[in-house]
Amino acid sequence: MEVKADSRKFHEIECDALVVAVFEGEKPDEGTLAEIDRRAGGVLRSLIETGEFTGKAGDLAYVHQAGEMKARRMLLLGAGKESEFETGNVRKLAGTAARTLRGKKARSFAFLRRSQLAIGESAQAATEGALLALFDPDKYHTSDKTENPLGLMILAAADGDQREIQRGIDRGRIIAEATNFGREVINEPANVLTPTEMARRAEEMAKEYGLAFEVLEEDRMKELGMGALLGVAQGSAEPAKLIVMTYQPKEASPECVAIVGKGITFDTGGISIKPSEGMEQMKYDMAGGATTIAAMRAIAQLKPSVKVIGIVPATENMPGGRAQRPGDVVRAMTGKTIEVINTDAEGRLILADAVAYARKLGATQIVDLATLTGAVSIALGDLYVAILGNDQPWIDRVMTAAKKSGERFWQLPLDKEYREQIKSEIADIKNIGGRKAGTITGAYFIREFVEDTPWVHLDIAGTAWNESSKPHLAVGPTGICVRTLVNLVCD
Ligand code: BES
Ligand code: MN
Ligand code: ZN
Repeated sequence: MEVKADSRKFHEIECDALVVAVFEGEKPDEGTLAEIDRRAGGVLRSLIETGEFTGKAGDLAYVHQAGEMKARRMLLLGAGKESEFETGNVRKLAGTAARTLRGKKARSFAFLRRSQLAIGESAQAATEGALLALFDPDKYHTSDKTENPLGLMILAAADGDQREIQRGIDRGRIIAEATNFGREVINEPANVLTPTEMARRAEEMAKEYGLAFEVLEEDRMKELGMGALLGVAQGSAEPAKLIVMTYQPKEASPECVAIVGKGITFDTGGISIKPSEGMEQMKYDMAGGATTIAAMRAIAQLKPSVKVIGIVPATENMPGGRAQRPGDVVRAMTGKTIEVINTDAEGRLILADAVAYARKLGATQIVDLATLTGAVSIALGDLYVAILGNDQPWIDRVMTAAKKSGERFWQLPLDKEYREQIKSEIADIKNIGGRKAGTITGAYFIREFVEDTPWVHLDIAGTAWNESSKPHLAVGPTGICVRTLVNLVCD
């Protein structure tokens, strides 16, 4: 879908539908709403006065014969309380508009600016919201594909700086298209998206957008002593890959941020095998890795002034004849020994070697992201990403980027006392810490391998997959964290 700005008055814009956000309790007595109501023959007043439309978030009214305007129809959307309105609402409203109007076979719509939020950021949010909303995981439908006649969104802001708007549109498109690319990868079934295929897609992306690219094969992992990653990989017939993508700015920067994403292309649990019910979901256990690749794509285009390395340890977790057993002891790249109590706690094992490799490559700050624990859904549901780390200023910077991105992060503690839970009798550390504080002990395990480098861990197991279709979002991969990671390195 094309997105463009138009500085004409709303009634002069030719399109299938004009989208108007209305705040809770707002009356069409003055300003734009009064003019819309007048041109539409009083329909707005009637909708509001009958109580049919209140402006509450989620409210929606679709009107044919919009009246004295070039738009053929009008879509009214509840925007909630004006005092609480932020760019996150713009993103959601634009998304709801795009998905709703696509369902009504509209070919174009104009999205009318109704708030005083910064215009560039609003335009970016609207662009992101609409493009993310139009994504559907329907690649494998051979019939009944979602039809998409919707080819144009017009951002109607008569008094805004049109260049600012255009910058927002461009940025929004880069980020949304990268996110949708990542969602496509997350959605792939594990028979298609093997570690080898994941590496191939990352390489194709890197070539296209001008990133340096390298894959470490298992031989090289052995030389480097990556026993934790190789231990997980040995139960699978598919070779593991360690994917490395590098963005190097023109001016050398003293900082080097590493983004490290869990790339388990399928998690059976290994010998500590998972129950079969719902196991098919475990194809999305590489969401952290796919998100890393997606973020690198946007970063390559937005060209921040900091060096960024994207690292994805990619492997299956399978219970093959050579699989590691509960009780096995493996040696990680840092030299630490690990007692593998539960082979289903594999994410932390592969990340242990990947974060160590990030340090070897010179990372001065690390962010890892992973569908690491079921426990995070118990703690935070599907609304918040759990964020933990060893350096509060670095955590705060990631939190700030999340806030700006409209992604909800909640910090969990990581006090030293939690280390007790992963103490092993026979090795330096064990890979599970019992029933209590599962998300925290999972993070703590990774912490042991980042040594003193500022590090943040994001557990996205609860937020990476949307289980029920929403007005602004399809069922399936959400692409959570792409925006935060991009904003983090761009600011
Ligand atoms: N990939 C899973 C975590 C997961 C669960 C992701 C549900 C998405 C949805 C991870 O590898 C895992 O199996 N974690 C275990 C850890 C346990 C054995 C300590 C879990 O959460 O049960
Ligand atoms: Mn697992
Ligand atoms: Zn897993």
